[in-house]
Amino acid sequence: MLVRLLYASRATTPADTSVHDSILEQSRARNPKLGITGILCFSDNLFIQVLEGGRDEVCELYNSIVRDGRNQHVRILSFEEISERRFGGWTMGQVNLAKVNAELLLKYGERAELNPFEGSAHATMALLDELIATSLVVSRGG
Ligand SMILES: Cc1cc2nc3c(=O)[nH]c(=O)nc-3n(C[C@H](O)[C@H](O)[C@H](O)COP(=O)(O)O)c2cc1C
Repeated sequence: MLVRLLYASRATTPADTSVHDSILEQSRARNPKLGITGILCFSDNLFIQVLEGGRDEVCELYNSIVRDGRNQHVRILSFEEISERRFGGWTMGQVNLAKVNAELLLKYGERAELNPFEGSAHATMALLDELIATSLVVSRGG
């Protein structure tokens, strides 16, 4: 049974690109074995991630992310059973939110800034869908 989880969290050490690199490296090494796909979006102080895969695998990975000291204030935005993957091409795609333009942010939010903790999960997911459509996912992963 497939599920999709969307969560947001705050970076413990803001603007640390070595943290982004090590998380992506870990994800791309482990996710294929777990059958997990998705995308990881980051800005200086924020993570937004979609995890898709089997319910057990997604829940176990989410639990280890909550315990991971590199982020905090981890909040589930949505969790749903799905019939097919939306991010199947990515072992863990990567989006630098600093590169997303104001117009796109305004399309889905009240202001040209991303606040997934307060905005609707629907709007955040719609933005992520559009990032894929506009090729702003900069790396497909393995
Ligand atoms: C924001 C964030 C996203 C992460 N995403 C993944 C991921 O997609 N896959 C993964 O294997 N680890 C990911 N990690 C790392 C895990 O939290 C954890 O360090 C890793 O799975 C090893 O866990 P273990 O030491 O309990 O085996 C992420 C960590 C953070 C902070």
